[in-house]
Amino acid sequence: MKDKDVPILKQYKEIKSNFYDSILLFRMGDFYETFYDDAKFISSFLNITLTSREYGKDRVPLAGFPIKSADQYIRKLVESGKKIAIADQLEEPNKNVKLVKRGVVEVLTPGTIMRESLLSEKENNFFALTYIDDEKNVVSTLDISTGDVFIYDFKGDENMLDFLRGKDIKEIVSNRKLKVDEKEVKVIDETFFNFEECFGVLKNHFGMDRIERIKKMDEKLVVASGALLSFIKETYSTSLEQVKNIEYVDLSKRMVLDSQTLKNLEIFSRSNGEYENSFLHSIDRTKTPMGGRALREILKSPFYEKNSINKSYENIERMLLKYDLLKSLKELLSNVGDVERINARIISKRATPRCLVNLKESLKNTLKISEIVENLSLDIERIDRNIVERVIQIIDISIDENVVLDGGKEKFFKSGFDPEYDRLKELSLESSKSIYMMEDEEKKRTGINNLRIGYSTVMGYYIEITNSNLDRVPKDYIRKQTLKNSERFVNEKLKQYEIEILTAEERLNKIERELYDKLIERLSFYYIDLKKVSTFIGKVDLLYSYTLLSYENDYVKPEIGDFYELFIEDGRHPVIEIVNRNERFIPNSLYMDDKRSLILLTGPNMSGKSTYLRQNALIILMAHIGLFVPAKKAKIPLTDRIFTRIGASDDLSKGVSTFMAEMLECSNIIENMTEKSFIVLDEIGRGTSTFDGLSIAWAIIEYIHNLKGSPKTLFATHYHELTELKSKLPKMFNMTAKVRKYDDRIVFLKKVVEGSSDESYGIEVAKMAGLPKEITDNASQILSLLKESEMNVKEKMRDVSQLSLFRSSKENEKYEEIIKMISEKDVENLTPIESLLFLNDVKRKIEKIEED
Ligand SMILES: Nc1ncnc2c1ncn2[C@@H]1O[C@H](COP(=O)(O)OP(=O)(O)OP(=O)(O)O)[C@@H](O)[C@H]1O
Ligand SMILES: [Mg+2]
Repeated sequence: MKDKDVPILKQYKEIKSNFYDSILLFRMGDFYETFYDDAKFISSFLNITLTSREYGKDRVPLAGFPIKSADQYIRKLVESGKKIAIADQLEEPNKNVKLVKRGVVEVLTPGTIMRESLLSEKENNFFALTYIDDEKNVVSTLDISTGDVFIYDFKGDENMLDFLRGKDIKEIVSNRKLKVDEKEVKVIDETFFNFEECFGVLKNHFGMDRIERIKKMDEKLVVASGALLSFIKETYSTSLEQVKNIEYVDLSKRMVLDSQTLKNLEIFSRSNGEYENSFLHSIDRTKTPMGGRALREILKSPFYEKNSINKSYENIERMLLKYDLLKSLKELLSNVGDVERINARIISKRATPRCLVNLKESLKNTLKISEIVENLSLDIERIDRNIVERVIQIIDISIDENVVLDGGKEKFFKSGFDPEYDRLKELSLESSKSIYMMEDEEKKRTGINNLRIGYSTVMGYYIEITNSNLDRVPKDYIRKQTLKNSERFVNEKLKQYEIEILTAEERLNKIERELYDKLIERLSFYYIDLKKVSTFIGKVDLLYSYTLLSYENDYVKPEIGDFYELFIEDGRHPVIEIVNRNERFIPNSLYMDDKRSLILLTGPNMSGKSTYLRQNALIILMAHIGLFVPAKKAKIPLTDRIFTRIGASDDLSKGVSTFMAEMLECSNIIENMTEKSFIVLDEIGRGTSTFDGLSIAWAIIEYIHNLKGSPKTLFATHYHELTELKSKLPKMFNMTAKVRKYDDRIVFLKKVVEGSSDESYGIEVAKMAGLPKEITDNASQILSLLKESEMNVKEKMRDVSQLSLFRSSKENEKYEEIIKMISEKDVENLTPIESLLFLNDVKRKIEKIEED
């Protein structure tokens, strides 16, 4: 830092030196300014003008934006992963202060934002820490805006990665090197992971009892959550007072949905990335931010435990019995604000008077909601009404909502709340009145009718006289400023008034701040109670949403339990039936049991195969979030995972080819499935040449079918040849999506029935799509030629199916070395040449074994 720097630059550099890794937004009047490299960066990133200004001898690069529109710029910066420090003016600028004090008041990063305007209402905003060791992986997450720490543990890396992908996690740090998709995770210092220190931090924050409990489960849970807390505290210099809840989440009681499945089932967004018409969008009837977030969360980890599910069903049933109450519930819920986040803002001293007014209204409605809950005898943990009433009263006697809702940011305390405050308010009012009285008096005294008393921040109160009346200005006026058509004066009396007003105002402001601080402190005592209130609202809202949806769409209550059998009678696709209200959706049934665990679905293009597959997966999912299902009747077994894989979906983001991606996905399923899993495979194997694809599909089907406890599997394919496998695989059944052919035309019945289809009708579909006749005619000829050779394929298949694709275990032993060699290879870090060499190596070893 140069000593000769002008004061403001010196101040800037001092602050920046403590926040060298952040973009420093430096408040100057109505602008946030950035300097030097920050300025260069934001001007190009945000597309705003880069200027420069003379400070002493230096020309300093400078770029900034108005405070008014700051949010949009800050959001962009934070979303791109930048850390932002905001240095505000810590005192009111006035003419007596040369350089206003400035200091950093807020540090923003994607995982730690609290600002209402930057948070998305129905989404959580998690910061995560992963603690990886050889035995298990622990993840702790914190949503700073709501104040919950959750801890999870995982056996494998893949399961953990998948969890991290699926959550609304904005930032991750770790003790080891880790990559989540393309994102490199920041490795933090190992001193954060010292057990004793972690234990101490947690104990101070949450109290001995709770931490002992967590420690008993596993010390690693303590390390992961303690490290998270101290890291955020240190890095963002926040005290995290709003964080009052810590909880271990037992994922063994949750269904696992990997990110691929969430994507394939279009749970949170469509394949084109849009939210509209995603599953969530179609079923979300929640009215409050808490309800919206609860729905998202349960969709990411549905129950795998029937008590919670049945409790939800019973609650829906009770609500349906008194359906007319739903209307009042809707009205009330619509008028409940984000109690959870307001509560977090109170405890971190960021709540504005407007927040409090919102809280009061929300709580009033919550009381009425709780009456309805009582009336419906819902099985939901009740709130303490007395406490809610007390909070309402505390806000009600203090804050004047008319002032606040009118946009007033000052003098918002109700009269009668504090006598000294009232006296000062009166005084400041009186003084302003005396100014106006003085205006009249002066008019009379001078005889100048258009004499005016005004106020400006720079010069304070003044008397303004137009040029034509200047000759009548009395002697005691002192000239202060000359304008084009008038001049401005002050006199002793005006100065006196000004001092009175300003002191009254100043004292008023001071006492207002003190009163407000006290009020906020008082409200923060209710943090835990209000937290419970927000959970309550979230639950009621979620149930409201479930019930309304079930009623609107004639859903039924499924039977759920620990059995193997799955039966969905006349099921419907929940999204298509809602989106295409005008078209009739043809219902289809599914039956599976231990003698019928794998269904091979064939049928022409456009016949409804994919729809059928997804609809069944979605129905199972709905049952597990405690929601009724679109069917006539349903019996659904507790399902630990749903896997869905769709062939030929290029996963460019992972940098692997179509076919490779498919195979990777399949091996992930094979590793993780159990007899309680539900698997949907849609045209797996089509990303390669016909024979390779056919063989892979075949091998996968056979493998899954022959597993001891067979996971239930739906497999859709265009390889009709595979239907032949029926003769060999007793638990496999063929089903087909029916079409009817009239002369040259085909009609898709969208009806899935037992049996297999023999034709693709691909060419008919092409005709319907308007492809030139020349092409379709030619295609028909080629097809008949191919069909002849297909007969040969079928024959060959019969031959091959006499052999088992999977060798006996004795023979397997011979291959053990090779299996080991492959499984230990770090494939991701091989160069193409190395892979070829490795492959060659493997091949030679196999040849050698075969020779022996
Ligand atoms: N049961 C149904 N009732 C009404 N419409 C349906 C039904 N099933 C599917 N559809 C509609 O038919 C169209 C084709 O369905 P889908 O994509 O499932 O066919 P597909 O057999 O998988 O085709 P492809 O072989 O080309 O993948 C979709 O637009 C879908 O909305
Ligand atoms: Mg399809």
